[in-house]
Amino acid sequence: MTEVKITPDQIRAFKSGGRKVAALTAYDYPMARMLDEAGVPFLLVGDSLGMVVLGYPDTTHVTMDEMEHHVRAVVRARPRALIAADLPYRSYENPTSARENARRLAAAGAEAVKAEGGLEILSQVEAIVADGIPFVGHLGMLPQHVLEEGGYKIKGRDALQRAALLESAQALEAAGAFAIVLELVTPVVAAEISAAIRIPTIGIGSGLQCDGQILVTPDLVGTFPWFTPGFVRRRADGAALIREAVQGWMSTIHG
Ligand code: KIV
Repeated sequence: MTEVKITPDQIRAFKSGGRKVAALTAYDYPMARMLDEAGVPFLLVGDSLGMVVLGYPDTTHVTMDEMEHHVRAVVRARPRALIAADLPYRSYENPTSARENARRLAAAGAEAVKAEGGLEILSQVEAIVADGIPFVGHLGMLPQHVLEEGGYKIKGRDALQRAALLESAQALEAAGAFAIVLELVTPVVAAEISAAIRIPTIGIGSGLQCDGQILVTPDLVGTFPWFTPGFVRRRADGAALIREAVQGWMSTIHG
């Protein structure tokens, strides 16, 4: 933990400086501290919180109150990393609610907010940015739309989707976003978008040509072992370590 905070401008400048953005999700104090101590520059209090911490089936159940609660926990770790937070499902349906809810997350300590969508949420993005709150876009597969889309589907497979993604990325950049998450976008289209805009793209399941990568931390460290997306290479089996430690301790009790 240090006093020198990483800012949205610094994350934006990673791209011109030729540095990749490494981003991970954090939902609580200990993980935020550990990720910060590991040198991760960008922490996202993602609404993946709903599945990997709160036990919901998808992100559409996450509320503003829950997001604020977990943002505050991450903020208490006082990380050097930039802290961004997701605006949850239906919290940004118009510019007024987008601004009000972005303000709530900022008041809880988030230094940037993220929302899902492109052209269709542009007036909301403009309202947030005009209010002085740094904004991260999210294009491609939009988890908050998983129910209407009937699953987590790869985006950018046809010319129509490709053009729409490119147009939305350029519009988000023009509206003032300082980075854009690309989720489950075909690597070719993700590379094309990355080349077409000056702000960093941060990919998840979108190939290696993005300007950075983000993962849901429990997927990376194996603490949500019941489901791991196919594109993730798990680096630790956290669940096995915990079970082993607990069983070792229980054996000292039971003899
Ligand atoms: O909620 C989240 O964790 C996210 C990442 C998947 C980018 O939005």
